[in-house]
Amino acid sequence: MTGLEQLTAFIGEARWFGGKGRGFTVTSTRRTGVLPTQPDGPKVAIDLAEVTYEDGDTELYQLPLAFRTVADERLEHALVGTWEDPDFGPSFVYDAVHDRDAMGQWLSAFAEAEGGSSRRRGLLDFHRLPGHDLDLTAHSTLFSGEQSNSSVAFGDDSLMKVFRKVTPGVNPDIQIHHVLTEAGSDHVAALYGWLDTVDEASDAIIQLAMLQQFLRTASDGWELAQASVRNLFAEADLRADEVGGDFASESERLGVALAETHQVLAQAFPTETFGTAEVAALGQGMHDRLVEAIDVVPGLAEHASALHAIYDRFATLDTLTVQRVHCDLHLGQTLRTVRGWKIVDFEGEPAKPLADRLLPDSVWRDVAGMLRSFDYAAAVVARSFAASDDTGNAQRAFHGDEWTQRNRDAFVTAYAGRALTDHERLQLAAYEADKAVYECVYEARNRPSWLGIPLAGVVRLTA
Ligand SMILES: Nc1ncnc2c1ncn2[C@@H]1O[C@H](COP(=O)(O)OP(=O)(O)OP(=O)(O)O)[C@@H](O)[C@H]1O
Ligand SMILES: [Mg+2]
Repeated sequence: MTGLEQLTAFIGEARWFGGKGRGFTVTSTRRTGVLPTQPDGPKVAIDLAEVTYEDGDTELYQLPLAFRTVADERLEHALVGTWEDPDFGPSFVYDAVHDRDAMGQWLSAFAEAEGGSSRRRGLLDFHRLPGHDLDLTAHSTLFSGEQSNSSVAFGDDSLMKVFRKVTPGVNPDIQIHHVLTEAGSDHVAALYGWLDTVDEASDAIIQLAMLQQFLRTASDGWELAQASVRNLFAEADLRADEVGGDFASESERLGVALAETHQVLAQAFPTETFGTAEVAALGQGMHDRLVEAIDVVPGLAEHASALHAIYDRFATLDTLTVQRVHCDLHLGQTLRTVRGWKIVDFEGEPAKPLADRLLPDSVWRDVAGMLRSFDYAAAVVARSFAASDDTGNAQRAFHGDEWTQRNRDAFVTAYAGRALTDHERLQLAAYEADKAVYECVYEARNRPSWLGIPLAGVVRLTA
């Protein structure tokens, strides 16, 4: 097999590859640069692979590759293939994010750029922010979760997120972490640096990786919320506010963290006020998505008129303020540390093209995302209980609703710091309904047995 054929096979199997199920081949690669080498270390190149689908679409994927002249059996699981590289000759080629030597070389390249400056190596441009000395002795560990990128921790000092599918232009995750770090925000992991290259075709910048503070004491918000629900179900006689694992004070702190994050984003990026025409267009988008969703989820049809009514009320708003927001916020994007809640992954809505993810939106879209997530936490735990024991389902449903309502209220009240205005309520209802409809389509396509979760949400929202 040629190198390109071996890369095609490798990408097709990669966890982070977004084109699964579509026919494709890697049609070309280009080298953006080579990392500083170390004695006995591999040669490490950061290549960009062009993936061409059968329908003619193309995408660019980042491939950090480690080239070794002899096979390294510790890295067998990360072998991409063996071929003759124009720069390095006949090589055993590994996925570099698994290779500790290679990752050490990458971290050293960041360290060569002094804090607050940048350092070029070929087409690679390493940037650093001041204020943190990198721990160059730390070993790298690749995160093992289902992710669309590759995250590598360096001891408990720093975390590098290697963006896999890349597009020319600003990466919102780097941009927003940069702004929040410079503002001294307590609600994100501090940005330490980032890596850019130049797209030769368009002369635009492609952002390849982000280096940030490793949140050593972090617990995943989604896991914590579910643990709280499990606690409640296990104590069947107690109410949500009486059990040890009550989550409402955490939801409250999360609401404050989101409000403070939105405030910084509103100061750092332009805000805009939409008028009637723009609001109507947003409302029309919601109507259209619902109509399309009913084709996929016929069960939505009986709620259509109530949902359209929510969107109609939204569309009557005279004005709507928009600003940069997270756009894909849910409990899984939050981490609880000993120093409070942190919000992660500002990449925006994954399905949207990069340029659209930089556009401002309503803050209530983020609030709605979190509210849907509370609903999911209770429902997912109820499902897992029901699978092993179907007595007590009704009681758990009752307690689950109580948990959801309690945490929704705590979150929203803390977010707003006061009761919501009618204007805000209309926005929140519309964004939440729109999100639940999106979830119905997602579940129908990917996890049909979960479709009942967002459908029940739709029933509640339209009640
Ligand atoms: N600074 C950090 N310190 C420790 N863990 C972190 C940090 N940032 C993110 N994580 C963890 O790494 C995981 C992946 O991060 P992130 O969501 O940014 O990656 P992603 O590739 O964009 O994921 P997805 O494909 O789900 O969008 C998160 O679930 C989070 O638990
Ligand atoms: Mg992401």
